Amino acid sequence: MTGLLNVTVHTSAEEERVSAVAEIIRGLTADQKTLSPKFLYHEEGSGLFDEITRLEEYYPTRIERSLLDGFGAEIVREVRPHEIVELGPGNSAKSGTLIGPALEAGVLKRYIPFDISESAVREGAQALFDAYPGLAEIAAVVGDFERHLSAIPQPQGTRLIAFLGSTIGNLHPEERSRFLREVRALMPRSEDALLLGADLIKDTRVIEAAYNDARGVTALFNLNSLKAVNELLDVDIDTSLFRHCAVFDDEHSRIEMHLEATADVAFTLPGSRDTVRVRAGETIWTESSYKFTKDGFAETLHDAGFGNVRWITDPEDMFGLVLARP
Ligand code: SAH
Ligand code: AVI
Repeated sequence: MTGLLNVTVHTSAEEERVSAVAEIIRGLTADQKTLSPKFLYHEEGSGLFDEITRLEEYYPTRIERSLLDGFGAEIVREVRPHEIVELGPGNSAKSGTLIGPALEAGVLKRYIPFDISESAVREGAQALFDAYPGLAEIAAVVGDFERHLSAIPQPQGTRLIAFLGSTIGNLHPEERSRFLREVRALMPRSEDALLLGADLIKDTRVIEAAYNDARGVTALFNLNSLKAVNELLDVDIDTSLFRHCAVFDDEHSRIEMHLEATADVAFTLPGSRDTVRVRAGETIWTESSYKFTKDGFAETLHDAGFGNVRWITDPEDMFGLVLARP
C-alpha cells in the first residue's frame, strides 16, 4: 500500500520564472559573473549530482552516509520526532536512515521534503513509500529554501529538521546566517532538533580532487547550469565554449566552481538589445562550497539561536553531523 503524497509547488508559477530570469541577468551582467548554484540542479542536474555522490573522489556522501548508518537511529531515539522536515533532500537517498528508525519507534507521522527539484522529490517519495510501507504521509514542498521556507506546513508535534550533504556550505556567510535564523523559527518546541551535515576543512588536495573527478561528471554538472540559462532566457549559449574549473580558496575556506570561457561568447538578452559578453578567459562563478571548523560552525549556530550543539564526526574529522537544539 502507498501512503498519501501531497506536493505543493512554489517554483513553476510565472512570477517565479520572471524572478529567476531577473536573477540570472543580474548575475551575468555583474563584474564577476555569477549564476546561483540552484541552477546546477536544472533537469539532468539532479541525476548528475546523484552520479557525483557515487564517485570515488567525492568523499562527503560516503562519510555522511556511514555516520547516518551508525548514529541515525540513536539521534532519532533521542529526538523522537513526530515529523521529519528535510531541506534539499534531492531524491531522499539518505532519508531512510532517519525515517526507518522513527517508524520503528512508532512516533513518525509525516515526512516533509523541501527541494527545488520536483522530479527528485517525486522520485524520492515513491522510493520511500516502497521501502517503508508504514510511512503514512509525505507532504512535499517544491521551492527555493532561500525564499519559501514559510511554505512548510505548521508543525504537528516534535520536529526534526535535517539538512544533509553540507548543502549549508553552498550558502555564503550572510545567506547562511539568515537561513539558519529562518530554520530556527520553524522549530517552536524546545524538544525540536536540527541535524546538519557539514564538510570540514582538510587537505586541499583531497577537496580539489572531489570537485575535479577523473570521469568529468562534476564538469558536466557545472556545465548543465548553462542549459538552465538557455531555457529560461531563451538563448543559445554553446556550452562547449566553457570549461569547468574548481579551485580551493584558502582565505575564504571554500572551493569555488567556475565556468571559464575558452573563446569570446556573446548573446542577446530577451526583450532587449542588451548583449552579454563573456571574454575568453573570463569566468562565471557557479558555486561555492564552504568547508568548516567545528568551533566556527558551532558559533554560527549559537548566533542563529541554537543553544545546544553536539558533533558526530568520522575518526579523521573529514565530515560532521551536528545536532543542534533551540
Ligand atoms: N541532501 C542530499 C542532496 C544534496 S544536493 C544529499 O545530501 O545528497 C543539494 C540539494 O539541494 C539538491 O537536491 C537541490 O535540488 C537542492 N537545492 C539546491 N539549491 C536549492 C534551493 N535554493 N532551494 C531548494 N533546494 C535547493
Ligand atoms: C550539494 N552540495 C553540498 C555539493 C557540494 O559539494 O558543494 C554540490 C556539488 N558541487 C560539486 N560537486 C558536488
